[in-house]
Amino acid sequence: MTQKGMTEPLVRLSEVLCALSHAFDLAEGQPNGHSVRSCLIGMRLGQELNLDSEIRSALYYALLLKDAGCSSNSSHVAALFGSDDHRVKWRLRTVNWSRLPDAVLSTLRAAAIGRPLAARLRHIVQLTGAGGRVPRELVRMRCERGAEMVRRLGFSTATAEAIHAVDEHWDGRGYPDGLRGPKIPLLARIACLAQTTDVFLMFDSVRGALRTVRERRGRWFDPDLADVVLSWGDDKSWWDALCGPEVTRLAVEAEPTDRIRRIGTPGLNEVAEAFADITDVKTPFTYKHSRRVAAYARDIARELGADAATQLELYRAGLLHDIGKLGVSNRILEKTGALTRADWMAIKQHPIHTRQILDQIRVFREFAWTASLHHERLDGSGYPWKLDGSQLSAGARILAVSDAYEAMTSWRPYCAPVPPDTALFLLEKERGERLDADSVDALHQYLARTGDASPPGDSDVEDMDETGPMTTPIPLA
Ligand SMILES: [Fe+2]
Ligand SMILES: [Fe+2]
Repeated sequence: MTQKGMTEPLVRLSEVLCALSHAFDLAEGQPNGHSVRSCLIGMRLGQELNLDSEIRSALYYALLLKDAGCSSNSSHVAALFGSDDHRVKWRLRTVNWSRLPDAVLSTLRAAAIGRPLAARLRHIVQLTGAGGRVPRELVRMRCERGAEMVRRLGFSTATAEAIHAVDEHWDGRGYPDGLRGPKIPLLARIACLAQTTDVFLMFDSVRGALRTVRERRGRWFDPDLADVVLSWGDDKSWWDALCGPEVTRLAVEAEPTDRIRRIGTPGLNEVAEAFADITDVKTPFTYKHSRRVAAYARDIARELGADAATQLELYRAGLLHDIGKLGVSNRILEKTGALTRADWMAIKQHPIHTRQILDQIRVFREFAWTASLHHERLDGSGYPWKLDGSQLSAGARILAVSDAYEAMTSWRPYCAPVPPDTALFLLEKERGERLDADSVDALHQYLARTGDASPPGDSDVEDMDETGPMTTPIPLA
């Protein structure tokens, strides 16, 4: 998506991606900052191995984007384990699933929490009985999607290969391909060690992280790389900085200085579109949701006479408005029955997360607040802040109408999509009460004028049938 006549100053890609990587942490159930800390650990390794700056640049983006495929298996994880995807994903990163005792114990801790014993046993048999096949396929989905995403964004083959192999282990018992020793790309070996070091640093302590590196040296990790990390044990100030509040800034500055990448308007749009796809793929019920909301928001703004800069801002706000949803469990997002109070509290967090993530990016900060207001309503009945019409900008009003219309015309866990005419009729009922009258009218006019009553990107409906969104099943046996 380009806007004629729009020129924005170039910005550092690292600044944008370091901030957006916090969305991966949400999706992976990792403590905030996992991606940027992993980046710093991996880049120190790259420095001490004297890798040249071109390779360190490939490593840098592999470390920042290693979880770009994070949301692609969330729906399967939640269904297969009958549990919160975040809880399971955290375990997938720490447990050696190829060892049966570890797999059984971990499944016991993660599968079908709160369900009857028989249901839990069924999950355990399914998940552990196929010789690690289920976790392997879950990791494969994630790695392939992540590698594909970075290729599409124009990163190097070395970066994509590192992301594809980030969960391979030195002893050949990792996933998805069971690569062994030096057959695993060096950058993937570094990223695997870096991410695991951070997981145990946050879960335990520096001592706990180093103990894990020592214990898994030669099993998960390249022994030579593990020895480098083990040599940092006494560097207290470095570990303190790694756990400190400046870690995102430090990660931005860790990009090789002679390889700094900058992007302008097209690049920023591509990054926002990529993160919209990452958000939407979390559940089949939000298939292309963010891209469609973005297109509606831009078109409504244009219909209302907004200038190109405002249209662009609303387009990006639409793309990223639900990025905070990566922090909501698929157990809740795909629930067909009534939501509990706790479920609702979790859902109401997602606009807050959206704002927190976008606020960290200078060039996205201007619309961070607008993007987070898409569930607010004129009469104060929305969420999470329960603002009323006097507190809602034109942009927030446009986004609310775009989001509501797109949701109504798409599959949801609890109901089928309604035809565009019915959706417009339902919007009319809220016109001026809960939803902005001008925005509803503009959407109406736009759809009538263009004759385009189907959402943008609707040519991709082959993934749907009349029973709802389709997912690719993972064979359990
Ligand atoms: Fe939302
Ligand atoms: Fe939405």
